Amino acid sequence: MMDIHHKPVMFNESLEYLITDKSGVYFDGTLGFGGHSEGILLNLNNDARLIATDVDTDAFNFSKLKFKNDERIKIYNFNFSQINVIAKIESVPGFSGVLADLGVSSFQLDNPASGFTYRNEAMLDLRMDKTKKVSAEEVVNSFSEERLADIFYKYGEEKKSRQIARRICEKREIKKIKTTLELSEIIFGITPVNYRIKTLSRVFQALRIYVNDELETLKVFLTKSVDLLIKGGRIVVLSYHSLEDRIVKEAFKYEELDCICPKDYPVCKCEKESRLKIITKKPVVPSDDEIKNNFRARSAKLRAAERI
Ligand SMILES: C[S@@+](CC[C@H](N)C(=O)[O-])C[C@H]1O[C@@H](n2cnc3c(N)ncnc32)[C@H](O)[C@@H]1O
Repeated sequence: MMDIHHKPVMFNESLEYLITDKSGVYFDGTLGFGGHSEGILLNLNNDARLIATDVDTDAFNFSKLKFKNDERIKIYNFNFSQINVIAKIESVPGFSGVLADLGVSSFQLDNPASGFTYRNEAMLDLRMDKTKKVSAEEVVNSFSEERLADIFYKYGEEKKSRQIARRICEKREIKKIKTTLELSEIIFGITPVNYRIKTLSRVFQALRIYVNDELETLKVFLTKSVDLLIKGGRIVVLSYHSLEDRIVKEAFKYEELDCICPKDYPVCKCEKESRLKIITKKPVVPSDDEIKNNFRARSAKLRAAERI
């Protein structure tokens, strides 16, 4: 079994917000290496169920083995946006709780072979689901300068997006950019020393979000999850950057509204129903202690809402 040093982020807080019925059916959309799932199972009765999924095959295989002796859990290698398909396969009419701990796991970041880190030499890939058609290598080597700049700006909020895109296009004329370090060197070449790491992480984040279609997938997952929550059931989402957090915040707000008519309509005509009550008016953040012990937790934000 792989050696995994993974500390689930806001572990206690996630479980407190998520679990309302110890005999319920729960969904963990980002199983990873099973940190949160393990906590969920520890807090559930013998008649409860947990359905968990991860797009990453390593995470799926690891967790399948980890939980092989617990009959309460069923594990899938699906995208969480297919929560409705999984619910159908499992004949689950509704969930008591749905959890998503977004982004990549520490294993994906620390393991050079998974190609998520710019700190080690790895093939420029960044796909969580290796069956997806377009890898980061293809994006970097075949997209137009304008399209690359848009990706860096939109998904990395990178101010130097145009300059970076231009330099990539110049360099790839000479030699195809194949590895994480080759891309890093290009970015280093045009970034002042103090900004290098931040710029690198923004460019890699942008490529990762694009390649995995992370933001659209998240929107689909949030809507389908609300469709599938039973009354009183909870959705808990942990996000790690502002783009994700904004989507979660907006989706929860939209689901809480009972009218979306223009303000000047004298009577409501929209028939919109409020489906969620937001429980965390402000996002919950990790304690100083947790951040000290787990660097990855520093940017985490937890939002929770209840189906009404
Ligand atoms: C932060 S880790 C989760 C860690 C997990 N909570 C634990 O305690 O071990 C995020 C995981 O979600 C997976 N993931 C990201 N987006 C996904 C998606 N759309 N569908 C399914 N899994 C996804 C990643 O492959 C990664 O393993």
